Amino acid sequence: MKILIPGSFDPPTNGHIDVINRCSEIFSEIIVGVVVNPSKESLFTPEERSEMLEKICNEKTNVKVKSFEGLLVDFATSESVDAIVKGLRAMTDFDYEFQMAQANSTLKGFETIFIPSSPEYGYLSSSMVKEIHSYGGDIKSLVPDYVLERMNNA
Ligand code: PNS
Repeated sequence: MKILIPGSFDPPTNGHIDVINRCSEIFSEIIVGVVVNPSKESLFTPEERSEMLEKICNEKTNVKVKSFEGLLVDFATSESVDAIVKGLRAMTDFDYEFQMAQANSTLKGFETIFIPSSPEYGYLSSSMVKEIHSYGGDIKSLVPDYVLERMNNA
């Protein structure tokens, strides 16, 4: 089964990588879709976010990183994926994710499969990582080493 894991990944966190790694054991092919959203301010460009993910996932032979602009369902169609996979951290994610899943199903019939985050990453988000880092806090345990390096040089 070929699946798509979409997201902003600004920056990729250990929570994202945990979901990607677990999916790579379950599904045969994984496309990590990095959204290009020019109207949303981001710390890293889509190219930088893709490059970080490629570097981190390079040992997973069934994981490919691609960026996309526009509707998720159009990208999912162009990649011929069987389903979309989203990580769910907590009930606070649920309302929004459930709405998106229903919209993506209505628009083009795509199923969304939810995978629970591992307990240790239940609170973790890219926004939290950026905020802690902006105040000089230690994010070493929250992001892959390569992302830490890039954040320190950003
Ligand atoms: O990591 P994020 O920011 O939660 O990812 C959100 C993402 C990229 C999955 C979502 O914004 C998205 O699907 N964007 C593409 C535009 C689109 O299809 N919007 C309608 C979704 S119902």
